[in-house]
Amino acid sequence: MAYFDNGNQIFKDARREHYAVGAYNTNNLEWTRAELRAAEETRTPLLIQVSTGAAKYMGGYKFVKDMVADQIDSMNISVPVILNLDHGDYESAKECIALGYSSVMFDGHALPVEENLAKTKEIIKLAHERGISVEAEIGKIGENQGADGGELASVEDAITFYKAGVDKLACGIGNIHGVYPEGWKGLNFDRLKEIADAVPVPLVLHGGSGIPEDQVKKAISLGIAKVNINTEFQLAFQKATRKYIEDKKDLDTANKGYDPRKLLLPGTEAITAAMKEMISWLGTKSIDDELKDASFDRASLNEE
Ligand code: G3H
Ligand code: ZN
Repeated sequence: MAYFDNGNQIFKDARREHYAVGAYNTNNLEWTRAELRAAEETRTPLLIQVSTGAAKYMGGYKFVKDMVADQIDSMNISVPVILNLDHGDYESAKECIALGYSSVMFDGHALPVEENLAKTKEIIKLAHERGISVEAEIGKIGENQGADGGELASVEDAITFYKAGVDKLACGIGNIHGVYPEGWKGLNFDRLKEIADAVPVPLVLHGGSGIPEDQVKKAISLGIAKVNINTEFQLAFQKATRKYIEDKKDLDTANKGYDPRKLLLPGTEAITAAMKEMISWLGTKSIDDELKDASFDRASLNEE
């Protein structure tokens, strides 16, 4: 039976050693299998997450949890897998905690900060009683196409939410969900550094798709340990599927090119390829290197 890691040690290690672990949204079975394959083939841990909308599309949070768990077992996945509710509201966070997700994000950014904090504290209590990790959001992450990079998170709120006991903190630092608009002014590294200097908690970069590699790497060097990616893989899937159809492979009736197992394959493989590239950007440490370092640490301790 699959086990979901809560990721707390994984993300603490990532922040301490200045690499990041990807948080990859899943949209269906093919996405789930593609992401698990990329993680297993690179021997790196991954966080699979589902948004409320994607969960509704697939038939509910329980279905998603069971699907991911079953794929971990049927694919013989050996790397740590964290299962996260992405941008959850209060009710969905409670539901996923009860279902046994190993991590939940309570996204209270639209609430007055006092209410966001109060509800986050309630979710933390419920989650921590079950060993489940909690992510909160401060500031505001910009939405699709908006040139506005959202509202910058404040150092004061970061300290307040850290003291409340969050395990991961998503900060508005000029990042945007979806496709980035022309003329986007880039991430606010000064604010990120101020927050990272103020709180030791793993920091989260939402809207990871479309941020240039050098900015992703600079953000990681400053304290980002979790990078959320969804649109990038949707575009990779779209491009590969479009090519399959433009090449008229779907019209190859002799080979049943219209079979969804063939029609969806190029896009599925494109997700795996895109995730492997993202893993190299993030510098996600393989579990083999992690074990080597751990044994090295132990060995050096024994020498003393
Ligand atoms: O929470 C999900 C991520 O923030 C996805 O953002 O679609 O811009 O990669 P993205
Ligand atoms: Zn997000």
